[in-house]
Amino acid sequence: MVESYRLKDSDICFSRMALGTWGYSGAEVWGKNDDEVSIRTINEAIDNGITVFDSSPRYGDGKAEEVLGKAVRNRRSEVVICTKVRLPHRDEIIASCNESLKRLGTDYIDIFQVHWPFRDVPMEETLGAYEELKRAGKIREIGVCNFGPGCIDASKGHRIVTNQLPYSLIWRLIEKNGTLDKSIAAGMTIWAYVPLAQGLLTGKFHCVDDVPLGRRNSRFYSSSWKQGRHTDSGFEDIIFPFLARLGEVSAESGYSMVELAFGFLKAQKAVSSILVGCRNPEQLRMNLKAFEKRIPDDVIEHITELSEPLKERMGMNADLWENGDGGKGRIY
Ligand SMILES: NC(=O)c1ccc[n+]([C@@H]2O[C@H](COP(=O)([O-])OP(=O)(O)OC[C@H]3O[C@@H](n4cnc5c(N)ncnc54)[C@H](OP(=O)(O)O)[C@@H]3O)[C@@H](O)[C@H]2O)c1
Repeated sequence: MVESYRLKDSDICFSRMALGTWGYSGAEVWGKNDDEVSIRTINEAIDNGITVFDSSPRYGDGKAEEVLGKAVRNRRSEVVICTKVRLPHRDEIIASCNESLKRLGTDYIDIFQVHWPFRDVPMEETLGAYEELKRAGKIREIGVCNFGPGCIDASKGHRIVTNQLPYSLIWRLIEKNGTLDKSIAAGMTIWAYVPLAQGLLTGKFHCVDDVPLGRRNSRFYSSSWKQGRHTDSGFEDIIFPFLARLGEVSAESGYSMVELAFGFLKAQKAVSSILVGCRNPEQLRMNLKAFEKRIPDDVIEHITELSEPLKERMGMNADLWENGDGGKGRIY
């Protein structure tokens, strides 16, 4: 069973492994998933101690929220529903929350998150709307995603329980700009999203041609694929050789790539929970087993060292999708 811990000054039990629902949305990045399979996966996750489920209205225009709502209809008290809004102004935040509640089939959201920060709207306006929703009982707690040091400073005075950040063996950029330390100092629980680098860290993709075209939209890949919003040359030239090397370590040590990927994140003191996507019960079972595995310190040290050159080469922009704002991205 996956362990949970209690969020500070709250009765919310936050599981150390959380399940993402983006893959259930039918979005281009993931392609179709059978709803019945998605629902079975969510229920099996609950049966195995996962309490926390992450969604967003952006995942398939609300489709992922609908699937999550159907799956937990009779198990509401067992789950922590986390969803988001990616709009900065008061009225649109309130409206989006009401629509999410309908799709989720519930009258409260446990953790309502700012999906991305907006540079040109005062933080007070955005967070003020979340506080209003809290007072109205529509949300229990406020969470954020993709908040770097500047945004954390700007949100002082508000109770923010979680910060969801992109973090994995091949995307360690939040280590470089002070985000981890600031989040901890502000009392936020950090949960790492895209922990398997959208499948790369399972070892099943050996070169870019193996990666489904719709998924080549992140800054892992070159903008020449024309799938994404960035204009970078990507990091394929260093990611695939690294994955090959990690595969060798996996074979030598006897730990699977997924076990190594989770082992790295579990070794990070700042990280409290890992937010993974599982398309079906088979992937969920594999990932639950990998999550339980204890990896020796020397193996963790070795793979951390191996990934160091990627961290150095990738620069300071921790945003996995955009190189906007003069190349600094949106995690600031
Ligand atoms: N706050 C934000 O801005 C933000 C951004 C992105 C994601 N998220 C959240 O984070 C969650 C997790 O991220 P993610 O799903 O994008 O990335 P991920 O967890 O790194 O990758 C999940 C994908 O990898 C493949 N996979 C998983 N386990 C596997 C296994 N054992 N063997 C083989 N393949 C496996 C599956 O896709 P295939 O089978 O199709 O390969 C699965 O959908 C999302 O669902 C979402 O809730 C949040």
